Amino acid sequence: MKWACAWLTIAVFGAGAAAGAQQNVPQQSVAEQDVAEKNVPEKNPLEGNAEAIRNGMGMFRSRCADCHGMDARGVRAPDLTQVWASGRTDAGLYGTVRRGVPGSEMPAFASPRMTPDDVWKILAYLRTVAAPKPTDPARGNAQNGERVFRVHCASCHRASGRGGRLGPDLSRIGLSRTRTAMTRQIRGAVEDFGPGYAPVTLVAPGGQQIHGVKKSEDLFSVQIMDTRERIQGYLREDMKSVTNEKQSAMPVFTVDKLSESDLDDVLAYLSTLRGANTAVSNDNK
Ligand code: HEC
Ligand code: HEC
Repeated sequence: MKWACAWLTIAVFGAGAAAGAQQNVPQQSVAEQDVAEKNVPEKNPLEGNAEAIRNGMGMFRSRCADCHGMDARGVRAPDLTQVWASGRTDAGLYGTVRRGVPGSEMPAFASPRMTPDDVWKILAYLRTVAAPKPTDPARGNAQNGERVFRVHCASCHRASGRGGRLGPDLSRIGLSRTRTAMTRQIRGAVEDFGPGYAPVTLVAPGGQQIHGVKKSEDLFSVQIMDTRERIQGYLREDMKSVTNEKQSAMPVFTVDKLSESDLDDVLAYLSTLRGANTAVSNDNK
């Protein structure tokens, strides 16, 4: 059985690498398209066009709202009502939507899935919900927030290359999530888990329980990272049960564990985390 596990681990890692390589394929074709898209106008040609706005709203709701929210104020992904106020241009936003943000969940919306006109229509709609300037003034003390992070969070999360691995790397979280989304996550109001972080419990034949997050699975096996950060593959038939949990592997930080002011501070700190490849979004300005 040890043999089977070792082999499985290799097989699963191999599959992971292959999946990673596959993910790069669309990027290449997008780059090719970029070459063709040389004459991107500086200004949205459809801005203010009533029919374009109506169409754009429909497309936004079906293709973007899951992540950016029905009102575009952000759920898992950033608030898009602030993008112009923060200095982004029409052409830059067009480029972000066409190319996506590599290394993040923001997908590329390239042809034929979406035409250039579709993107301009969505941007024309977003322009109508754009807000003049941030409504929520910066709160909290980032310096104390970093200390709070080291005490309560770093055992599971990396930031700038340091910390645990059970939870996702938060080095770019300030770019990729809104304050509201982070608050919901920390206070425990989140029921969907990012890929690779779904909580799972395995029960071995002897009754021993193994808790962890699911890295991958198929009909016959499941690969997890357990709470001691060990990655292991298990055959389903060797296990008494494999149960997907509803409660995240991240503890719920209620007010008695993390005060409102410590929460403000840690959010202020997380908002400063903009990762190594900030250049990606700046390039697109
Ligand atoms: C699967 C989730 C997901 C979907 C679907 C999605 N986005 Fe995004 N989007 C993101 C994430 C995450 C980011 C932040 C990327 C980062 O880390 O910088 C982002 C970033 C952006 C940005 C850059 C914001 C900024 O502050 O510069 C724009 C513009 C954007 N998305 C537009 C769209 C549009 C338009 C659609 C629909 C056509 C869409 N997104 C669909 C997840 C998504
Ligand atoms: C015992 C491990 C553990 C601790 C401690 C922990 N987390 Fe998490 N965290 C996770 C896991 C696992 C996930 C991914 C599963 C999920 O989304 O619920 C996660 C997800 C997150 C996310 C969402 C990331 C994303 O990409 O959307 C944020 C934000 C976050 N944690 C912040 C914190 C903060 C802030 C603290 C400290 C106050 C903390 N976590 C403490 C394990 C932990």
